[in-house]
Amino acid sequence: MSLLQIDQLDVRYGPIQALKGVSLQVEEGEIVTLLGANGAGKTTLMRTISGLLRAHAGDVKFRGRSLAHLGADRIVRLGIAQVPEGRRVFPTLTVLENLELGGYTRPPAQVRRELARVLAMFPRLDERKAQLAGTLSGGEQQMLAIGRALLAQPTLLLLDEPSLGLAPIIVRDIFRALHQIREQGMTILLVEQNARMALKLADRGYVLETGRIRLQGSAAELLQSADVQATYLGQQRPASVSGS
Ligand SMILES: Nc1ncnc2c1ncn2[C@@H]1O[C@H](COP(=O)(O)OP(=O)(O)OP(=O)(O)O)[C@@H](O)[C@H]1O
Ligand SMILES: [Mg+2]
Repeated sequence: MSLLQIDQLDVRYGPIQALKGVSLQVEEGEIVTLLGANGAGKTTLMRTISGLLRAHAGDVKFRGRSLAHLGADRIVRLGIAQVPEGRRVFPTLTVLENLELGGYTRPPAQVRRELARVLAMFPRLDERKAQLAGTLSGGEQQMLAIGRALLAQPTLLLLDEPSLGLAPIIVRDIFRALHQIREQGMTILLVEQNARMALKLADRGYVLETGRIRLQGSAAELLQSADVQATYLGQQRPASVSGS
């Protein structure tokens, strides 16, 4: 049984069908990346998994159990935490308060232990524990959003474009943290615009195009794919050899 199993998912916003028959699986311990252009439906998929949107048809199963009729809070308790697109930290709360809120479903002793782990993973947050989250830099807010999700001690971590708008040096720090999180045995579904870094981290990937899965494969296969290279890796197809 897959940890996460999505079957034939349709999601609509009124007349707009954002996801059309999307099926994908994530196995326990895997990092799976979801690539796709703006508007492909990546965020819609993440929000449907975490119970913030309802599917029109199809199903999302976690450990074999349908999430279709469960609320977002219940889904967090089952072990799925989302780092939302655009970070969405609570700006008027401190770094520490934001992190503690992430652990609201967990007993205090576990929160303290996990808090120590997150602050060790992100020393910049440790230095800024008492600072209001709204005054953090973009990169620091992203670290906080990841840390907050980790406080829920999820089995499956959903990350929606963690590198968006960040300087390369910060992106490197974020990916370093994701490697560390993977080593702790967490399963990750990662939406990324930075396809190269995502595919280097991931075991497998899917390419979503206007609401449908167009390509899927191992990360190595996708890195080699001419379609992926041309569309997402900013590389030209090799020039064809012609006689002229
Ligand atoms: N609240 C909404 N109401 C109506 N349409 C929406 C809403 N949210 C998203 N859509 C539409 O659904 C489609 C998929 O959007 P979604 O945000 O899932 O894409 P995305 O792949 O995350 O894009 P990006 O890379 O820009 O974040 C788009 O056509 C978008 O306009
Ligand atoms: Mg999005």
